[in-house]
Amino acid sequence: MDQPRRLETRAVHSGERRAKRGDGQNGSFCPISTPIYASTTFSHPNIETTDRVLGGEEEGYSYARYGNPTVGAFEEALASLETPDGDAGTRTGVRAFAFASGMAATHAALAAAELTNGATVLAAEQLYGSTATLLVQVFGANGVETRFVDAYDLGAVEKKVAQLEPRAVVVESISNPLLRVADVPRLSEITRDAGAALIVDNTFGTPCLQRPLDLGADIVVHSATKYLSGHGDLIAGVVACGPPYDAAVEQLRKLVGGVLGPFEAWLAHRGLKTLPLRIERQCENARRIANRLVSNPKIARVNHPSLEDHPDHETALRVLSDTGGLVSFELKEEGREAAFEFLNALELCVKAPSLGDVYTLAIHPATSSHRELSPARRARLGVGENLVRLSVGIEHPEDVAADIEQALGRL
Ligand SMILES: Cc1ncc(COP(=O)(O)O)c(C=O)c1O
Repeated sequence: MDQPRRLETRAVHSGERRAKRGDGQNGSFCPISTPIYASTTFSHPNIETTDRVLGGEEEGYSYARYGNPTVGAFEEALASLETPDGDAGTRTGVRAFAFASGMAATHAALAAAELTNGATVLAAEQLYGSTATLLVQVFGANGVETRFVDAYDLGAVEKKVAQLEPRAVVVESISNPLLRVADVPRLSEITRDAGAALIVDNTFGTPCLQRPLDLGADIVVHSATKYLSGHGDLIAGVVACGPPYDAAVEQLRKLVGGVLGPFEAWLAHRGLKTLPLRIERQCENARRIANRLVSNPKIARVNHPSLEDHPDHETALRVLSDTGGLVSFELKEEGREAAFEFLNALELCVKAPSLGDVYTLAIHPATSSHRELSPARRARLGVGENLVRLSVGIEHPEDVAADIEQALGRL
């Protein structure tokens, strides 16, 4: 695409109809959706071409762990969405790499930032639990020291970066479950000055709300299991970055082999086409539900960046284009029992971990996403037994609100 196109347009078209004649495509017709190339390997008209493709001198596909056209289509779309506004994708050199899960993508992003023996990484203490455990257990066993910081306290980050000289700083654009919003532009200034890589997990933000690479981040990670695919039917991950990290991510994927299969890639790419529409609706629904819950007598506190009392309300208005589809709230009634009673009383909202689906999902963070943490650490992070998190779907907001209110009414 020569002409810059807007995000909504790119979400629908990017990556599609990219096959050249002779790439297994009949010259007289062109499928409008990239087919599922269920093939382990790819042959060429002659072995010299195979040699050039394997040697990287000619574009093409050889062995599916190195690349697959269906996966490539999804990657091209993601690279386009994570690319600075108005840019066609390749000009800034942003590339995207699909992985078999968000965790495989996270692992590759961390390794690409050269987290090797003797390196220190500064991680947000609010990080997704498995990412923190991956750093401490897997990278820790290889001599990497992980230090944690309140990533939403810029003064604390600045101090720790100066003191520890970390090789990388890892944050989430929007955190779970209190929905803290990272000041990525400011964080990128701090990391750039210190020569550290800024890795942003943009799973909760998606390229619709923020493109961290535009704001100075070095590497973006997604659990594509969530909003990007959006229908709760697959596990996938993505890394988006430019030089010098892209070559390392590509090599790691090839060697570690956590590749996404063509069936999942096709589904994820189909989901991606409606991402802007879904996000718009989910943000609007979440805002309406959050506003309604604020005045519910059974609720002590509502967390949503659209609310003026949210600690990052101002930051959200500055660094996000909308305030996101997740809402969490504390019940007035303390303890796990009330939270479980509420969740069990839901009739429409689905009680299940994960987020970003078309369905509204409800979970109890203390026994799901934050289960592995000690009660003291959960308390420090503000994850009490009375906290419930909603990932708001695309249903009619009145139906979702009515379900929540009837369940609260049973307490
Ligand atoms: C913010 C975040 N990052 C990464 C992951 C891991 O993704 P996956 O489950 O696709 O491996 C998750 C999963 O919940 C997540 O919430």
